[in-house]
Parts: sequence; C-alpha cells; structure tokens
Amino acid sequence: MSDKEKIRIDIICCAPALIEPALDVSILGKARSKGIATIVVHNLHDYAEDKFRHIDDTPFGGGAGMIIKCAPVFSCIEKLQAERNYDEVIFLTPDGNTLNQSVVTELSMKRNLILLAGHYKGIDQRIRDMLVTREISIGDYVLTGGELPALILTDAITRLLPGVLGDAESAFGDSFQTGLLDAPYYTRPAEFRGLCVPDVLLSGDHAKIARWREYQSLLKTTERRPDLLS
Ligand code: ADE
Repeated sequence: MSDKEKIRIDIICCAPALIEPALDVSILGKARSKGIATIVVHNLHDYAEDKFRHIDDTPFGGGAGMIIKCAPVFSCIEKLQAERNYDEVIFLTPDGNTLNQSVVTELSMKRNLILLAGHYKGIDQRIRDMLVTREISIGDYVLTGGELPALILTDAITRLLPGVLGDAESAFGDSFQTGLLDAPYYTRPAEFRGLCVPDVLLSGDHAKIARWREYQSLLKTTERRPDLLS
C-alpha cells in the first residue's frame, strides 16, 4: 500500500480511557499495527489553562451542566493543524447529521481527520463556528459523551481501508454498502436441532445462490427499511 492510501485520525476527548483500550484490539488493532491507520488520542485536560486542568465552565445565562471551554480545544486543534493539513474537523454530537455508510465511505477516502468528542452538557458554540467543518450524530439517542461515537466512527472508517479486512471479513456485501440490508447467512452443520439451512445454499449452484441472496436482501430491506429503497 502506498503512503497515499494511509489515514490518520486524531481523536480529541476528555476521557481517553473510554477509547484507548479498544483501539488495540481486533481489526482496529491490526490496522494500526500494520501502519494502515494512525490513530492518536488526545486528552483535552492536557491543554487546560490552569494547574487544576479545568476544561469546562458553567454556561453564560445559567442552566444545568458544564460547557467545554474554547481555550483547550483551540490550543489542541491549532497545534495539530500546524503539523499537517486536515481534511475535516468532525464534532460528534447528537444534533449533528446522522451517520450512514455513504458518509463513512466518503470519510474513509480522506487522509487526515480530527474527531472532536464533547462531554458534559456541550461545547462553546465558538468552537463549532470557527473550527468544526462537519457535525455527526451516530443516532437519535444521547450518550454521556462523544468518545464512544468517535470510536464507532473510527471503527467504521478503518474497516473500509484497503488491506484492513481479509477476504474472509470483506466489506463488499455488507448491509448498506450495497444500498440494501445483507442476506441471512448460515454455517455448518446443515441441520441443527431440526433447523435446516435453505436447500439452495447447499446446491453448489452459485448463480442460483447469488439470486437467492439478492432476493433475500430485497425482502429484508422491504420489511425492515423501506426508506432505503427510495
Ligand atoms: N454525543 C452524545 N450522544 C451522541 C450521539 N448520539 N451521537 C454523537 N455524539 C454524541
């Protein structure tokens, strides 16, 4: 693989311990050790202005919760941007655009990404106005912070990079990658507790199997996600 195809993802967050262990495991760990993906986690507390490492403060105008301050985020992002050009600075937030596989595919073709994970009530709007280029939500529910969404986005991007998945795990027929939900799969034994694998899958007729899978894909998508068909 040429250097051109490699990706670097910098994750900026308040709680690196939520993310770091997962980055060394399984396919993400392999992608990192093969040098296909460089993933670096930055602790916002390291960029705090005071010796107590405060990175948040109460909101102007009152209200519950704490807001991440501008200074640590600006310092961290400006330091990174002085080192290389970033294609996107992505803020993970429940009010962002909902993530889908086509956004993941688009991002997997970039070279350098910053993922900014919020925590607490939110971040100062000036960070969003001045630094953030894209805002992404992983779904209509609220988590304690953006760390896990950043990890999810990193995982989804990394598995699409050339050389990361072997043939056995290929992303080729994935649900959504084709625009449809994936067909059902079975493995040995052909009968388990009286439950039989569909005959067609044992037929050895690859054209017939492909047609069956396509039909099953369409059927499942029609039943579960008709919105994907339009
Ligand atoms: N932070 C908290 N909840 C989130 C979500 N659903 N998506 C992205 N970031 C978040």
